[in-house]
Amino acid sequence: MTWDDEDLLRKSPNLERILIPSLDIQQRVRQLANEVSRDYADTVPVLVNILKGAFVFLADLTRCLTIPHEVDFMAISSYHGGTQTTGVVKIEKDLKTNITGRDVLVVEDIVDTGLTINYLLDMLQTRAPRSLRICTLLDKPHARRKEIPLAYTGFEIPNEFVIGYGLDYDEKYRNLPFIGVMKS
Ligand code: IMP
Repeated sequence: MTWDDEDLLRKSPNLERILIPSLDIQQRVRQLANEVSRDYADTVPVLVNILKGAFVFLADLTRCLTIPHEVDFMAISSYHGGTQTTGVVKIEKDLKTNITGRDVLVVEDIVDTGLTINYLLDMLQTRAPRSLRICTLLDKPHARRKEIPLAYTGFEIPNEFVIGYGLDYDEKYRNLPFIGVMKS
């Protein structure tokens, strides 16, 4: 863990602990980028970033890729039934890229129940991409309600609410360079 991580932890009274230190994230993102660069060497993929949580991950991933690629953004909002996501998603901002016939890699921050990404995949599939795969930084498999094929996973994590590296609690903490656990 870096001194910066520890210093930030000390200055964030609502944080319980660091789950994934910043150096581990940077190392893993480079590994994922190497895999993606190898797997998509013969094409120009479109990396689809789901705002807002995955913007930090995409920014680091794209700078480690060694192949030509495009990025585009979607913003979605989930409808919540009680405290659970229902998986019904409203598109707040759609892609500008026509993905028909393209190799699409969806870049996600975290797959939890899987309902949101499942809905999104169904919707993107109707646009007939050549391939459609997911790259997620975090996977919380214990909360899964829909089986989702994850082509690339950064870290499997326990069923805890995490923040940092793009992930928020009430729109805060996205700037933290590590993944941390909130005090409950
Ligand atoms: P799912 O439909 O349950 O898979 O929800 C996925 C979305 O919920 C993610 O893209 C995040 O925006 C949010 N989410 C799920 N778990 C966490 C967490 O631990 N911290 C922050 N956001 C989370």
